[in-house]
Amino acid sequence: MHHFSYRGGILHAEDVPLPQIAAAVGTPFYCYSSATLTRHYRVFEDALKGLGATICFAVKSNANLAVIRTLVNLGAGCDVVSGGELQLALKAGCPPEKIVFSGMGKTEAELRLALACDVGQINVESEAELETLSRLASGMGKTARIALRVNPDVDSGGHDKITTGRKEDKFGIEWTLAPALYRKARALPGIAPVAVAVHIGSQITQLAPFEAAFLRVRDLVVMLRADGIDIRHLDLGGGLGVPYDHTSNTTPPSPEAYGAMVKRAVGDLGCALTFEPGRLIVGNAGILVSEVITLKESTTRKFVIVDAAMNDLVRPAMYGARHDIIPVKEARAGDVAAVDVVGPVCETTDIFAKGYALPPLAPGDLVAFLTAGAYGAVMASTYNARPLIPEVMVQGDHFAVIRRRPTFAEMTALEQLPPWIE
Ligand code: LLP
Repeated sequence: MHHFSYRGGILHAEDVPLPQIAAAVGTPFYCYSSATLTRHYRVFEDALKGLGATICFAVKSNANLAVIRTLVNLGAGCDVVSGGELQLALKAGCPPEKIVFSGMGKTEAELRLALACDVGQINVESEAELETLSRLASGMGKTARIALRVNPDVDSGGHDKITTGRKEDKFGIEWTLAPALYRKARALPGIAPVAVAVHIGSQITQLAPFEAAFLRVRDLVVMLRADGIDIRHLDLGGGLGVPYDHTSNTTPPSPEAYGAMVKRAVGDLGCALTFEPGRLIVGNAGILVSEVITLKESTTRKFVIVDAAMNDLVRPAMYGARHDIIPVKEARAGDVAAVDVVGPVCETTDIFAKGYALPPLAPGDLVAFLTAGAYGAVMASTYNARPLIPEVMVQGDHFAVIRRRPTFAEMTALEQLPPWIE
């Protein structure tokens, strides 16, 4: 459920009409609803009641400080994957002990930063990283609380490009190799192996792959405990999907069903649990608002050319993802035609939807791309020298710009000509 709805024929974010924001900040822009963020966080928290759960928001899904701070104020921790994200989480006010540092290839500088900040947990992805961390931690007189991120060899059933838990994926440590590495970790200076971590992918729309992965984790915990390694903490990752496209019949499992499955799979182990949701919290809490630049008809296609493009929202171009598109001015029922909604970037793949049913639109009309809060603004680029677009947050009947559009001077401020060019 989200708080973007038509009132008096105009799409609103909570109590604010979107044309009002468009007039103030220009298009395109991202708009987040803080009531929706709060609701999603609370629904997930409720679904995990009684499981001793900490929800560490996956900062990679939306790294805006206002978004992170909204969630931190509700009690969230943060899941970070780089030194930059770690600093963002701290800047947003996240207590270090509620930060989990995940990530495939952490540099020594990033590991040192994490140790210096005393983050709650570091998720180790390889034997080499474990050795490096031990050397750095003991050198700094610290003990790193670690999980090994295990690769359970489970196919998440989601999009190939965002599946992470198969044996051939680059992520994690093969689960069959994990017991030996835990034994090694126990013996290393500066290392406290306290947890097991797993994350099998993103936009997962069935419970079965999660359950299969969590049961593997369960077996591992039992095995480790028998070996005297007393695991009392599990990090079960993120990945629960959200509905994107009203034309597909996929309905992701509810947070309640997910919570019940978690309880079934690992609820009796006596472990505290960490979750790392990103999309589930912020996906439907954000939209991208764009203006129609012009229309074009060929003998076979009708194009609606909008001022947002693949550099602003790359998911359609990158993963073939579909975001629902709706007009900001509510249309009369039935009054639709099949159009291709495209951006102005000089790439054939800069297309948001093909043969998509939309009411008649004219230049200057606004459209909204739904479910754009996760992996939207964070994945934007300035391709075609297009400035990053503003982000706006709404709460009730007011809104605030939470990242403004840079000027051309700001966009180019870091560039300089080498001395040999006149
Ligand atoms: N934890 C780890 C270790 C992760 O790698 C990820 C996402 C998450 C948590 C959060 O997953 P979520 O709950 O948001 O599914 N750019 C892609 C998604 C990439 C996900 C990367 N890892 C997209 O736009 O679909």
